[in-house]
Amino acid sequence: MSDRPLARIGLDDPVDIASLLRDDELAELAQRFAEAHGVAVGVEDAHGRMLASCGALDNTGARAVVRHGGEVLGAVVAVAAGDQPGGPGPARAARLLADVLGLLLHHAHARALTHATHEAAMAHSFADLQHHNARLEAAVARLQELDRAKSSFLATMSHELRTPLTSVIGYSEMLLEGLAGPLEPDQREYVGTILGKADQLLQLITAVLDVSLLETGKVAVEDAQVSLAELIDSVVASFAPQAQKRGVVMTVKSEPLVVRGDRRKIRQVLWNLVSNAVKFSRDDSEIAIAIRTGPLRPDGDTPAAHVEIADTGIGIERHQLAHIFEPFFQVDQSSTRAYGGSGIGLTLAKAYVEAHGGRIWVDSTPGEGSVFTVVFPLAPPTGPG
Ligand SMILES: Nc1ncnc2c1ncn2[C@@H]1O[C@H](COP(=O)(O)OP(=O)(O)OP(=O)(O)O)[C@@H](O)[C@H]1O
Ligand SMILES: [Mg+2]
Repeated sequence: MSDRPLARIGLDDPVDIASLLRDDELAELAQRFAEAHGVAVGVEDAHGRMLASCGALDNTGARAVVRHGGEVLGAVVAVAAGDQPGGPGPARAARLLADVLGLLLHHAHARALTHATHEAAMAHSFADLQHHNARLEAAVARLQELDRAKSSFLATMSHELRTPLTSVIGYSEMLLEGLAGPLEPDQREYVGTILGKADQLLQLITAVLDVSLLETGKVAVEDAQVSLAELIDSVVASFAPQAQKRGVVMTVKSEPLVVRGDRRKIRQVLWNLVSNAVKFSRDDSEIAIAIRTGPLRPDGDTPAAHVEIADTGIGIERHQLAHIFEPFFQVDQSSTRAYGGSGIGLTLAKAYVEAHGGRIWVDSTPGEGSVFTVVFPLAPPTGPG
């Protein structure tokens, strides 16, 4: 008896007995029927081929057709077995077995169709998924390409803009120093304005250049020992006149921490944060700056330097918090906005901090104030002597 595997049946495939029932199933059925009814039986397919039989058959036997779904799939032949008395007779036995076969075929076909439907559905959704994946991959590649193009465009543009700007600044300074002859007070004032605006523009361009270079990973970060307390004092001092004018008091509490990194860049980070704190503070309020030890990573225990700059200013709405580190994002985008700036300060601060392997984040309550925290890795302790 062969263990012929059943053929796969597609949703629209025609069926026959052999494709729905295995040879051994048919043989067992024939044998059981033969024994139970005292007959010899055989099962034929639609072409008259004998698929299974039990006992001696001859052409005097009774026949009953096997139907499934309105189609004739074969026949059952039954012959009285010589010495078996009684029983329902070959005609009835053939009819009975044909009906049982019809039932079995019905169930087998239903099972096969369920299986085929399931497979077709799986294949369909898998193909769908592959199609979506391919489209997503293409989109991601395109975005990365655009991002690279944008960064390199910004880097080139800001570099090209700096050259002529340095000349504007240089010549303005020469005029102010009287190298081209003495200036009238009005002339001095105008040249002073030109110099101030050119300086501002240069700072902005430098910031854009730095951000785009950091994005392309082309910025060298110096590795020096930097005393944070010293830096913060000098930054606070540079904002003192501005703060004083508006009655804003700045207090500094600092542990004497030394971090490793790029002095100029770390100063720029602190400068940008203090600049914001002063700018967005209310008149007659307080800015509290603290430098203390804390973890480098939220889930680790490597010690690092935390600088906290807390103002009691206008604060930032929750839904804006996620965006303030994006280039050129400002909460107030209107042309009549009350605060100056270009929206690049925090972008640069974040890029610099991350280039140092540090972190930056903000907690804020609208109307009450904001707390910006930056974390820098500590310098390794220097041995005695
Ligand atoms: N301390 C703060 N309090 C309230 N809002 C703040 C504070 N710091 C930043 N913001 C909000 O985040 C925005 C982005 O800050 P960012 O420093 O990048 O730009 P800017 O200060 O507007 O301009 P720039 O720094 O380039 O001169 C600000 O415009 C402001 O809306
Ligand atoms: Mg700023």
